[in-house]
Amino acid sequence: MILAIETSCDETAAALLDGSGRLCANVVSSQAELHARFGGVVPEVASRRHLELIVPVLRAALEEAQTTLDEVDLVAVTQGPGLIGALLVGIAAAKAIAWSRRLPLVPVDHLLGHVAALYLDPPALEPPFLCLLASGGHTLLLEVREHASLRLLGTTLDDAAGEAFDKGARLLGLGYPGGAAIDRRAREGDASAYAFPVARVGGFDFSFSGLKTALLYEVRGLSPGELASRRADLAASYQHAIVRALVEQTLRAAKEIGAGQIAVAGGVGANSELRSVLEGAALVPLELCTDNAAMIASAARFLEPLQPSGYLGLDAYASRQLA
Ligand code: KG4
Ligand code: ZN
Repeated sequence: MILAIETSCDETAAALLDGSGRLCANVVSSQAELHARFGGVVPEVASRRHLELIVPVLRAALEEAQTTLDEVDLVAVTQGPGLIGALLVGIAAAKAIAWSRRLPLVPVDHLLGHVAALYLDPPALEPPFLCLLASGGHTLLLEVREHASLRLLGTTLDDAAGEAFDKGARLLGLGYPGGAAIDRRAREGDASAYAFPVARVGGFDFSFSGLKTALLYEVRGLSPGELASRRADLAASYQHAIVRALVEQTLRAAKEIGAGQIAVAGGVGANSELRSVLEGAALVPLELCTDNAAMIASAARFLEPLQPSGYLGLDAYASRQLA
């Protein structure tokens, strides 16, 4: 039985995965409401909230799985990338549980975690495949050759796709977190109402900052009343431009490397337009697209555990190390 903890951003999460790969518990406590009035995640506020939530969330996970710590064989925890203070809360909790029981511990990269959500059943995907990983902090095209071996094909030159959604939502007055809000509002709008630019950059990279500026200029020219009546069209057109950029590069990369299978992971993978355009792709179930600990437990199955002497000094890292 693997007990996994994830605290890299504003979700406090714990999950239990049994030896056969069955998810026995998946508890996610989102702090989104707490950060909404600041229009984004405030790192120090997030760390303090993780500290308050980590024990209740762990208890809830054990209860959901109807098990106890006695049944746990391995502890897994997100090591990075993410907010250092937030990550350290999860790491300290994981070390304490593992050390007190002399259990092995697996540090997991958050981005590998997002990819490993694809190994859970469903969709129970097996490498090799091409993965579009689009989240609030990262936009990556990855060639996944083995379960824990990723090769970077492309990344964003400026904003991440989720960040573009969040910043766009803010400009449109749709609040935080923005991706799901734009997704909902876009359903009432006309995606061809505005021709927003799709940046075509070299290789398999992405760029979303020009798009964000284009939306800013459109919004600036509108009175509050006009914005209210055009909001759905703006949301639909803006979302369409982001999705087109993601899909075009993904399909180009798939062709270039001769990928037999395409997969989508990360928070933006929850986007309904992206999911319907790439319907032939392997998709992470909606509830596992945004941050959770089930994906961290899933990744841990393919990594080498550290023994007690090797993990007490374990530290968090803030920026991308993988691929
Ligand atoms: O993977 P994730 O939970 O956290 C990071 O690792 O960053 O991704 C969060 C991102 C946010 O930017 C959020 O706006 C976006 O995923 N997101 C969406 C949708 N649901 C969440 N973006 C577009 N459409 C959605 N339905
Ligand atoms: Zn994430």
